[in-house]
Amino acid sequence: MKKIRTIGIVTPGGDAPGMNTAIRAVVRTAIFHGIRVMAVERGYAGLIGGDIHHMDLKSVSGILNRGGTMLRTHRCPEFKKASFRKIAARQIKDHGIDALIIIGGNGSLAGGYEMAHEHGVTSMVVPASIDNDIPYTDFTIGFDTAVNTALDAIDKIRDTAASHERIFVIEVMGRDNGFIALEVGLGAGAEVILVPEVKLSMDSVVKKLKIGIDRGKLSSIIVVAEGVCRGHDLGDYISKKLKVDVRVTILGHIQRGGSPSAQSRSLACRLGSAAVEMLLKGERNKLVGLVNGDVVTTDIAKALKPTKTIDRSLLELAEKLSI
Ligand code: F6P
Repeated sequence: MKKIRTIGIVTPGGDAPGMNTAIRAVVRTAIFHGIRVMAVERGYAGLIGGDIHHMDLKSVSGILNRGGTMLRTHRCPEFKKASFRKIAARQIKDHGIDALIIIGGNGSLAGGYEMAHEHGVTSMVVPASIDNDIPYTDFTIGFDTAVNTALDAIDKIRDTAASHERIFVIEVMGRDNGFIALEVGLGAGAEVILVPEVKLSMDSVVKKLKIGIDRGKLSSIIVVAEGVCRGHDLGDYISKKLKVDVRVTILGHIQRGGSPSAQSRSLACRLGSAAVEMLLKGERNKLVGLVNGDVVTTDIAKALKPTKTIDRSLLELAEKLSI
């Protein structure tokens, strides 16, 4: 097995709060063990373009509490093509990188798998995404921060919703999954939560709101995951059916920014550091996750299968608590 002397670090895809904390953990752990660290700028685009430079202890000072990624990122559709991955693999070799630590979400995981499969590139993946949709880890870095950001926004919206006796539809991120919507809806006491995993017709939403109104509810909050429908379409439908004023708020990219929460930071420190430690222990091409409080590794190939799903009992709980 090849000795690891130099690692590369890259943050492809959507940024997530806590990525910087994870970068710091990787760099400091590697240098602690006498390993050289190379930074890849702008995700997989920087890998293709050779935008790669050396990192030292000081280069990660003062970043732990900052949102986003200091290495910057880029959506890189070219990386889906084998010809571009070949160029990336050559860059890795030319820069003397023995293993890549990839901090990112599903796309990053897929990229890591393909690079290993096609070109024998060694990598370890640290799961970071606000969507929490990566299996074999209970949480992804950034999810908790995004949920807290959305909750803070909804608490504020509730003040005005109650004052005006209005219904608010709030659209949250999460791509094709309802992890954010469920956690946010439960924490915000939303009257209705819509997630892609559980089909709920617009008519049943209207019905539920009507029952509340008949019982004397003066305002309501509906949390809808972006993977279900457009918040404005739902708002228009409710407004037409109930003949009431409905306001719609799309929380959008504010969910991706901000200083990482305590949970996101702790997770980033643990998983970032563990990725290097596991590599030194001889593990290769693994996802490093946290399951029931323990750091565990899973083959990247296995982690590619979308096996993680929302806890439906939480949806039932939210329903029970919001009558
Ligand atoms: O995967 C993270 C995420 O924020 C999703 O929740 C969202 O659907 C997507 O990225 C938005 O991507 P972009 O910033 O490229 O518009």
